Amino acid sequence: MNDQPKQRKQRFPDHFYNNITYCGVGLSVFILGCEFFLFALDFLTSSSNVYLGIVTYILLPPFLIIGLILIPWGARLKQHQILKGIAQKKFEPIVIDLSLSTHQNAILIFMVGTAIVLTMTAIGCFKAYNYMESDRFCGVTCHQIMKPEYTAYLQSPHARVNCVECHIGSGVGWYVHYKMAGVRMLFKTLDGSYSRPTPAPVDTLRPAKETCEQCHWPGKSFNAIQLNKIYYADDPSKTPPWAVKMLIRIGGGQNGEAGIHAHMYYGDEIYYVPDDAKRQKISWIKTINKSGITKIYTTKSSPYKDADPPESKVRKMDCMDCHNRPTHRFEAPDVSINRALAEGNISPSIPVIKAKAVELLSKEYRSPDEAEKMIRSSLNEYYSKKQSAYYGAHRDNVEQAIKNIILIYRSNFFPDMKSRWDAYPDNIGHMISLGCFRCHDDEHKTKTGESITRKCTSCHIITQQGSGTAVQKDPDGLQFLHPFDSDESWKTSNCSDCHTGG
Ligand code: HEC
Ligand code: HEC
Ligand code: HEC
Ligand code: HEC
Ligand code: HEC
Ligand code: HEC
Repeated sequence: MNDQPKQRKQRFPDHFYNNITYCGVGLSVFILGCEFFLFALDFLTSSSNVYLGIVTYILLPPFLIIGLILIPWGARLKQHQILKGIAQKKFEPIVIDLSLSTHQNAILIFMVGTAIVLTMTAIGCFKAYNYMESDRFCGVTCHQIMKPEYTAYLQSPHARVNCVECHIGSGVGWYVHYKMAGVRMLFKTLDGSYSRPTPAPVDTLRPAKETCEQCHWPGKSFNAIQLNKIYYADDPSKTPPWAVKMLIRIGGGQNGEAGIHAHMYYGDEIYYVPDDAKRQKISWIKTINKSGITKIYTTKSSPYKDADPPESKVRKMDCMDCHNRPTHRFEAPDVSINRALAEGNISPSIPVIKAKAVELLSKEYRSPDEAEKMIRSSLNEYYSKKQSAYYGAHRDNVEQAIKNIILIYRSNFFPDMKSRWDAYPDNIGHMISLGCFRCHDDEHKTKTGESITRKCTSCHIITQQGSGTAVQKDPDGLQFLHPFDSDESWKTSNCSDCHTGG
């Protein structure tokens, strides 16, 4: 046995033997090992995990780079120290001598290492970019904050359109703009200072021309689309449902015939000034038509009756001024319960179920779990005590109704973020929020007395309406009948004065 310790051969130049370089090597090898493992995991698993993505492509790579920088940096410092010790000797650049095996080793490792890092950086950048553009990154990473929008999005007609196609669009400028905004949001998330609910309208939203119109281009719309609505009274077990069929005159076909989309698509421009942050009150409107004729409409109480408003307050009307909830729709209780009754998810045979369900959904709860408990216990108590005959015979109907009301709550109400229908008025239509009636109310007038029309038939025609056997039909249009009570006050007041959705 040879117990003489073997003289180890030095493989690298002297100055690579120092603590900083050791740390650099250790850190790089460790991170590289982790990265290889996570990379493999991400490639092999089909549904990638959000946090795995963040760690692999966003958090770890900077540490690898730090580790790699430490290696030559340590060597450089060491060399500096050695040279400083030798008086008079000037600080010289590293001399590479390929005849020395230590130098050959260092260069070989440097080249192989650089190749690996460059390849990984390229793949990593590509993956990081894709990952940051994914819906899961947007919708789940900030899961609590984005949960309302993400949940609503998943049930919308745009569920297969990526968040970034509406929120960022193409081009480097907007990408950087929104990523910087994302960093600011990240800090707000960390210290909890973000606002609840997330503010809307989104002032920095990219103009619709560069997002929506990439898919929905001018001239594509049909002349009119049919809307079928079924409404239920407070007690659907006593009153049959009221059905309305109407043709919404979208217009905007190839020939540019009049209609709702016509003023958007055929060269007319509309500008307005919102008086409030939610853009629900509008008192100044300017239109410029194709031939350059300008009209200004104001209300009696408008602050801009005599002087034009400052440029900075004026907004050019675009798709989002009507379609502000194309994908994040939080349904009002009245709407979702009508739908559930029509689809049979809640049986219309249950006495006063609409009134009860709407009342329970409109209440404020601290958490979805509390809501679930309260909805379940109140309905069970009410039906077992006050409607015991029905409850005895059709307990499963009540059970099914409870289950579906809770489901409606969980998809449309987010107490953590205070997000629900009344926090986000929908500008399409005019029943629950002012919507079109913000301008179309016959109150906005030019100096010569022209007003923006509130005539019911200018936007849609009702082709069928009524309940049970008393149904009116006319393909040329009917005069609106207020459901259930034929009340006439809709002629003078706004629908949303009485209809709040809850
Ligand atoms: C079809 C286009 C579209 C898609 C897809 C889309 N959004 Fe939006 N989103 C909008 C519009 C339009 C608004 C602005 C509403 C406003 O200004 O009143 C908005 C607003 C928001 C807001 C502000 C709060 C609110 O409710 O108004 C958040 C947060 C949001 N979106 C997150 C997301 C996330 C996360 C995704 C993907 C999971 C997504 N959006 C996908 C169109 C879209
Ligand atoms: C990447 C393409 C894409 C983009 C961008 C996009 N949409 Fe859509 N939009 C669609 C698709 C696909 C549908 C579903 C069509 C269907 O179901 O028939 C749709 C449906 C709609 C509908 C009909 C919804 C309904 O209830 O049936 C409206 C309104 C709409 N989009 C408005 C918008 C607005 C406003 C924007 C911009 C904020 C936008 N879209 C951006 C692809 C897109
Ligand atoms: C003046 C209000 C208004 C403006 C502005 C507006 N829309 Fe619409 N749009 C409507 C109404 C009302 C409907 C009917 C559907 C409904 O009631 O939900 C509709 C329907 C649609 C539909 C579904 C019907 C179809 O033809 O497939 C799409 C898509 C659409 N709009 C896209 C757009 C885009 C893109 C823009 C911007 C260039 C835009 N809209 C601007 C009011 C408007
Ligand atoms: C910001 C104000 C504003 C809002 C909000 C608005 N409009 Fe308009 N709308 C106008 C103005 C102004 C005109 C007149 C256009 C012109 O003279 O060129 C007009 C014209 C129209 C016309 C043509 C009327 C006719 O008889 O010639 C239709 C249809 C229409 N709007 C539908 C709608 C619908 C539907 C909505 C809601 C989804 C809506 N508008 C929301 C301002 C508005
Ligand atoms: C400026 C255009 C415009 C005018 C004026 C207008 N409406 Fe509407 N109305 C709409 C639009 C757009 C919708 C569709 C909303 C939707 O997509 O759900 C609608 C929806 C409705 C609905 C279905 C409501 C719902 O959400 O279930 C009724 C009922 C109705 N209108 C009645 C009337 C009556 C009555 C008048 C006259 C006082 C009138 N409208 C005037 C644009 C208009
Ligand atoms: C003065 C208050 C008032 C005004 C204004 C009003 N409504 Fe109503 N509306 C009611 C009441 C109250 C009911 C409930 C009747 C019942 O269930 O017996 C109702 C019921 C309805 C219903 C059926 C129930 C449901 O599912 O919501 C519809 C649809 C409706 N109204 C549409 C409209 C429209 C559209 C307008 C505007 C053009 C309007 N209402 C204006 C008070 C009003």
